Amino acid sequence: MFYLTSAALLVGGAFAQVPSALYGTFYPKNINTTEWISNDTIGTYGGIYQAGTYDWNVENKTYGTYDYCFMPHPRVQEYRLPAPVANGSVKAELVYLQYLQRHQRRTPYNILPTGENQPFECDNIDTYLYAGPGQGVSAQAPIDVYGETYTDPTNPFVKTYIPGTCQYPQLTIGGLLDAYIHAQDLWGVYGEKLGFLPSCPDNTTWFRSSESPLTQQTAGGVLRGIWPSYSKSLPLHQQATDVDTVNEGFSCSYRNTILADILNTSAWQAQLQAAAPLLAQLEPFTANDSAWTQTFDHLSDNFQSRLCNGYHLPCAINDTSDCVSMTQADEVFRTGDWEWNYYWRAYPNAKTYIQTVEGLFIQEILARFAAVEAGTNTIKYEHDFIHDGDIGPVAGALGISSLRWPGMGSNIAFELWRIDGGSIYARVLYSGQPMETIYGLLEWLPLSQLVGILQEYVPENIIQLCNTSS
Ligand SMILES: *[C@@H]1O[C@H](CO)[C@@H](O)[C@H](O)[C@H]1NC(C)=O
Ligand SMILES: *[C@@H]1O[C@H](CO)[C@@H](O)[C@H](O)[C@H]1NC(C)=O
Ligand SMILES: *[C@@H]1O[C@H](CO)[C@@H](O)[C@H](O)[C@H]1NC(C)=O
Ligand SMILES: *[C@@H]1O[C@H](CO)[C@@H](O)[C@H](O)[C@H]1NC(C)=O
Ligand SMILES: *[C@@H]1O[C@H](CO)[C@@H](O)[C@H](O)[C@H]1NC(C)=O
Ligand SMILES: *[C@@H]1O[C@H](CO)[C@@H](O)[C@H](O)[C@H]1NC(C)=O
Ligand SMILES: *[C@@H]1O[C@H](CO)[C@@H](O)[C@H](O)[C@H]1NC(C)=O
Ligand SMILES: *[C@@H]1O[C@H](CO)[C@@H](O)[C@H](O)[C@H]1NC(C)=O
Repeated sequence: MFYLTSAALLVGGAFAQVPSALYGTFYPKNINTTEWISNDTIGTYGGIYQAGTYDWNVENKTYGTYDYCFMPHPRVQEYRLPAPVANGSVKAELVYLQYLQRHQRRTPYNILPTGENQPFECDNIDTYLYAGPGQGVSAQAPIDVYGETYTDPTNPFVKTYIPGTCQYPQLTIGGLLDAYIHAQDLWGVYGEKLGFLPSCPDNTTWFRSSESPLTQQTAGGVLRGIWPSYSKSLPLHQQATDVDTVNEGFSCSYRNTILADILNTSAWQAQLQAAAPLLAQLEPFTANDSAWTQTFDHLSDNFQSRLCNGYHLPCAINDTSDCVSMTQADEVFRTGDWEWNYYWRAYPNAKTYIQTVEGLFIQEILARFAAVEAGTNTIKYEHDFIHDGDIGPVAGALGISSLRWPGMGSNIAFELWRIDGGSIYARVLYSGQPMETIYGLLEWLPLSQLVGILQEYVPENIIQLCNTSS
């Protein structure tokens, strides 16, 4: 048996199978420079931001590319065993999989302050909402009611909002269809190829979502894609909204202090300076509303939701000849990438920021790993349906080399392998391929080493940290 020493492991990813060249679109070298923002010839850096209403991710040509509308995920055509397992120098068995996934694509959170010129239609997807009697309660099942959004013609507020039949945000039909495909592909790898997943959900599987309907509805689609003929219902675990450890559930005043500091750094100001000409052009859409001009969150959210669901970029409400151009949208997206890389990697105090946002969730992941190490885990497969605001800080904690905004369905797979002799090794896939990090490629490392990387992001005392005064 050949045991890898830790020194051999993380040297520049030397022994990883080289991921498809398309994965290069994930790791731009100059993402933290203002040139990344202002140099229009960079365009999308090979990324994709457009999809038809009903599209899902089956395009062989583009699979593996950074694709905001449906990020790549483990798929049997591209999936490789960890290098030392593949060449037989190590015998190992997959013993634990924790899969973190952002919800699939959706309508925007943010409606332009000026109102919008195009409707957004959701009458092609039914969002079910009902409660039933719990196990052991003998009572009738309810009617399967679902949400159907409409606007009343007498409601005067619609004029400066958005026409159509959606909630903002909500899962779109394309998001649901892509959830099925995403999950069929997961089954192809972890079910058929590796024989790891059970043929039905059982007491070795465990599912969690945030409190958001987006993640819950994604879970329904994904779990159906994994188990197409399972006929019962399934529990989707959630923590209470106000204390949830994902999606910034628990409140933390120091987290807000740090965010204010981020927006006040000279790097952030330089970024806004670089994007100032663009912001001036977009004034008919932002109306200088500071929520839309201090960060590129809202603009990016608004534009990508349109483009990823078969719509056009917006036109000014009073001048339909003044429309956002693709060149402008590309710059908005690049600026968004810069911001995500800054929050979770480049900001000098990123570690503390991650602790306040994601430290408790990271702690929960580490508790799972510890149970696997101790051989006391009953759960083999956990799937967490969460948000970009969770994927980003976890990727930051892992030391991802460059972090573009984690797109729809973006995912991190923690695979734990038990090798002959009993010790546990880990691999971390980001969007289906080993993550490139400042520690090298996370292709095959002793679990203790991965724990060492993540442990620093677990605060010693979160309550005290959150009460820190600035
Ligand atoms: C197997 O792959 C590992 C990692 O790439 C390499 O270090 C090792 O030399 C290979 N062993 C054999 C027997 O090919
Ligand atoms: C960008 O990141 C690289 C690698 O971390 C660093 O060497 C460089 O100084 C950074 N540049 C800026 C402008 O922050
Ligand atoms: C802009 O980006 C292009 C393509 O990435 C590069 O070739 C060019 O040198 C850049 N221009 C400037 C002024 O940095
Ligand atoms: C995609 O590739 C797979 C395997 O390489 C092949 O079986 C399939 O037919 C291809 N699909 C399309 C749409 O080209
Ligand atoms: C559009 O035109 C209407 C009617 O003239 C006006 O009330 C409204 O403020 C304008 N909206 C914007 C965003 O300019
Ligand atoms: C899990 O289910 C299996 C089969 O139904 C059963 O044998 C086993 O005892 C259960 N394990 C736990 C920890 O509940
Ligand atoms: C913003 O930064 C400047 C110096 O760069 C500092 O004087 C000011 O107090 C900061 N403002 C806040 C709200 O932190
Ligand atoms: C937005 O700001 C610019 C520059 O300060 C100004 O010229 C413009 O009138 C402002 N627009 C609105 C709608 O306030």
